[in-house]
Amino acid sequence: MNMLKANSGTKSAIEQLRDDENKIFSDLFYRGESVRLPADIRQRYGFEKLVSAGLLSCSAQGYRATVMLSCVGGLVLATDFPDNQDERMVFPIHPESTYFIKNISARKGAKCLDICTGSGIYALILAKQGYQVTAVDLNPEALKYAKFNQELNGIGKIRFLRGNLFTPVRGERFDYISCNPPFEPVPPGSRHYLHSYGGPDGLIVFDKLLRALNDFLSEKGVFQIVTYTLSGKRGSLIAEHIANQIKGTGLNVMLKLLGKPQPLKSAAEHYKTNKLHQSWLAGWLGSGYSQLQYVMISGKRQGHRHSLKVINDKSESCKGWDLPLNWKKPVLLRKVRRPATIVCADF
Ligand SMILES: C[S@@+](CC[C@H](N)C(=O)[O-])C[C@H]1O[C@@H](n2cnc3c(N)ncnc32)[C@H](O)[C@@H]1O
Repeated sequence: MNMLKANSGTKSAIEQLRDDENKIFSDLFYRGESVRLPADIRQRYGFEKLVSAGLLSCSAQGYRATVMLSCVGGLVLATDFPDNQDERMVFPIHPESTYFIKNISARKGAKCLDICTGSGIYALILAKQGYQVTAVDLNPEALKYAKFNQELNGIGKIRFLRGNLFTPVRGERFDYISCNPPFEPVPPGSRHYLHSYGGPDGLIVFDKLLRALNDFLSEKGVFQIVTYTLSGKRGSLIAEHIANQIKGTGLNVMLKLLGKPQPLKSAAEHYKTNKLHQSWLAGWLGSGYSQLQYVMISGKRQGHRHSLKVINDKSESCKGWDLPLNWKKPVLLRKVRRPATIVCADF
């Protein structure tokens, strides 16, 4: 990430450009194109301000955005562009996150923790609503974006911590925990971004998160997780994992299966150059998991008895959820690099 520095007029300059000159705004900040502009437009929309904030660069080809901007929930959020090839690139805003923020259910006055914060989207929404928020991410680049987004949106104090899941908040308890963990099932040996690498079953980070949840929720604490799961005639893989892991905890969990599942075969197409792709795919198909589906998991800590309720919610189609908001170019997933040892380093 380049040096980004917002001041009090930066957000309004962005919003004015978006509202008045949507094509220019979209070409620059959604599609990452170079744009030549007449002087009157540059002056009217304070392009010098956007350049000095580090959001635009200027060359003989014209202006070009250094970051993708997404406007959701009254926030303007900077992230990397989806075709950035760095394994630590910061997750652009996807439809599952806009779905999540519409469904946040923290209790009044709750002490909140946002794990895997990325651009900080959930942490910022919570802080904007007046909650006391801590946000954690393993990727230092994500925290730089999240802090910039806090400054850009003029949002009050958030405690940002770098680390692996709950490690930086060991010993603390929270009334509300949110998370969108990395969730893509990836054949062994395939490269992928840190933000999406979920190991061969997609659940490597989710499992660790769920196992630790009980130790970090306050009495009657609530959690919400949006993620993705292998599914098929055997049901959903995540339901099996949850059922096994909540035994002996007081966690009461509701698993909402969202929209229509996608075929695993086509979703995993971009890994087909990997030698292990075929056997990995055949393994899942043979065990009854031929699809992938978005899920929203919510739950609370209550007493000593655990429970799991699974429901189907077809009210969201989840069509196009695999692509970032407003992104019109194909994502070059085949070329992305795998996060090597970072993901599992200190579990
Ligand atoms: C799918 S992105 C979600 C980002 C953001 N919450 C959103 O919804 O747009 C997952 C995030 O988890 C972070 N991450 C991956 N492994 C992690 C770990 N072990 N501990 C903490 N954060 C992790 C990644 O850096 C990435 O920012």
